[in-house]
Order: sequence, then structure tokens, then C-alpha cells
Amino acid sequence: TPLHFVTLLGSLRAHSLNGIVARTLPSLAPPGITITSLGSVGDLPHYNQDLEDQAMPPAVLAMAEAIRAADGVIIVTPEYNYSVPGVLKNAIDWLSRVTPQPFAKKPLAIQTVSPGAIGGARAQYHLRQSLIFLDAFVLNKPEAMIGQAITKFTETTLTDENTKAFLTRQITALAELAYSFK
Ligand code: FNR
Repeated sequence: TPLHFVTLLGSLRAHSLNGIVARTLPSLAPPGITITSLGSVGDLPHYNQDLEDQAMPPAVLAMAEAIRAADGVIIVTPEYNYSVPGVLKNAIDWLSRVTPQPFAKKPLAIQTVSPGAIGGARAQYHLRQSLIFLDAFVLNKPEAMIGQAITKFTETTLTDENTKAFLTRQITALAELAYSFK
């Protein structure tokens, strides 16, 4: 049976390296796996419980429904100050307030891209910490930390073939995890 994954992007930057990766993933997926993008985290308001008490923002509900309908989620994000970008954390905080909570028991993989050597590893572990509370089934391995990104991209394209092959391996591992819960 085919699988459908959705990507959640943690950068709003027009020329985001992480955005390039997120947009490249559909072409890297093995046969039988489709990947589409969730809406931009920039479309969500700043989390405020007063807003939630009035009515859940439609953009939050739409994102939650798309996650619930998917077989898995791939979060692609930069590391900011050794942690998760605020805009991504804001989206996770909103989504955590939807019932049923969309990340619960959801297979999920993390990818980080950075010009630095460590490839966003520290953000990955902060992200994992929040996802434990949300009861997501986060893929352990392979970990996709794409460092030294300047050598692997043009302004618009992921050019490094080893990185592409590695990302295909991670998507395959996420598919195996998703099948095991189907
Ligand atoms: C960064 N950057 C960064 N890189 C890293 O590896 N570890 C870090 O802690 C940080 N911290 C950080 C904070 C802030 C506020 C900014 C703006 C940037 C650099 C970051 O990896 C780089 O700008 C990436 O290109 C951002 O990802 P996108 O937007 O290209 O996807």
C-alpha cells in the first residue's frame, strides 16, 4: 500500500536551505511514497490561549488534519541558538492543543540543515524532547543532520548526491516505521 508523508518546515526564509531540502524530498522518495508540504508555519498566529478559547485558528486545524491524515511527518528545520526556531515551536505548541492531538502515535523523522559543521544536531535533540511529550514515534536512525551546507547547495538546489541518497535512506526507514504501525 502507498504511503503519504507531509513536511513541516521550520524556516520562513525565501532562500531557506531547509526549504530547498523540503521541496526536494518528493523527488527523493522511493516508489509508493508521496510527500507534500504542510502549510507555512508563518501562517499561524503567535500562540495565545485567549485565541484558543475563542476558536482554534483555521490554519491550525487544517495543519492538524493534514498531519492526522498522513502516514508520517518529516520536520525539516534550521537550528537557532542551539535549539528549535521559535516559529516551529509556535506551530508545535498550537498543534499540541488540537484534539485529537495530531502527533500522537505518528511516525516522524527530523532533518536539519546548517552551514555549520554539526548540521543542527542540537536542535534535533530539543525537538525530540517536545515530541516525547506529544507521543510522536520519532525515527531514531538514520539521523539526517546536513552540515557544511554551503558545499552541498546552489542558491536553489540540493546538489550533493551523497546527501540525496542519504535522505532517500531516511525516507525509506520512516516508511518501514510507518508500515510497522499500519
Ligand atoms: C543561526 N544559525 C545557526 N546554525 C547552527 O548550526 N546552530 C545555531 O545554533 C544557529 N543559530 C542561529 C540563530 C539565528 C537566529 C540564525 C538566524 C541563524 C545559522 C543557520 O543555520 C543558517 O542561517 C541557516 O541557513 C538557516 O536555515 P535556512 O533558513 O537556510 O533554512
